[in-house]
Amino acid sequence: MREVRLAKTAGFCFGVKKAVETVYREAENAEGPVFTYGPIIHNEEVVRDLEARGVKVIRGKEELSGIREGTVIIRSHGVGKEVYDILHANGVRVVDATCPFVGKIHDIVRRENEAGRRVVIIGDPTHPEVQGIRGWGREDTEAVDSFDNFVKKIPDRGMKISIVAQTTFHHGKFKEIVDKIKNLGYDVRCFNTICNATQERQAEAGEIASNVDAMIVIGGKNSSNTRKLAEICGAVCRNTFFIQTRDDLKPETLTSFNSIGITAGASTPQKLIEEVQTIVGSEF
Ligand code: F3S
Repeated sequence: MREVRLAKTAGFCFGVKKAVETVYREAENAEGPVFTYGPIIHNEEVVRDLEARGVKVIRGKEELSGIREGTVIIRSHGVGKEVYDILHANGVRVVDATCPFVGKIHDIVRRENEAGRRVVIIGDPTHPEVQGIRGWGREDTEAVDSFDNFVKKIPDRGMKISIVAQTTFHHGKFKEIVDKIKNLGYDVRCFNTICNATQERQAEAGEIASNVDAMIVIGGKNSSNTRKLAEICGAVCRNTFFIQTRDDLKPETLTSFNSIGITAGASTPQKLIEEVQTIVGSEF
């Protein structure tokens, strides 16, 4: 009998799961048109399925400003205050699926500004989550992804600054940047707001992959977190298979393995994970 080990952390994290469930619930129950501000997750299949249920994706602020009726769902990345202001002014119903961990960062930004401190976000300035966080701060709120960029943007060393992190930022890199900033003599308050979901998923994938004959990683080839999982698994298990859909799975290639592990990227739907688990678990 073959052993199949499915990672507990495979697929959606808590925040994304909650957001996706919210959209399905609203599609079913809400009166009038339902929109998400940006695609709810980076998975075309899920977005298409929701479209088939009448959920439309709003792309950009201009389009958002034109909405005058129905429900707009805010995705787990969160958005800046301005977006809520536009929607409330236009009388649109807002359903907020911002991940509570991201919402906590918004609160910190507001509070630190009120205490007269300048906020710096360590993260990718182009990422929607970071832009959303920035949208709760004063004009002078900055986002930087390296120490060099920090020094370029905030040369005044006497400044009181409060630092937060993008939830998916690398732990080690965050600590390194903060330590360097502290060494320069800034008055620093640091809030490590990195979410452990990604790290836990990677650690579990590596642990399973090193104890099985073959490992299957499910997720989009363009999803960076899934690629990272495949890389981690591939380093410890040479029979690692990176698949996007169930059709990519060739059961005949698995016949010689007695133990098989399965994990999946952050935007891989549960349904697909279960399908793969069923195929792998059946005798062939
Ligand atoms: Fe997911 Fe929320 Fe963490 S969206 S990665 S649980 S911050």
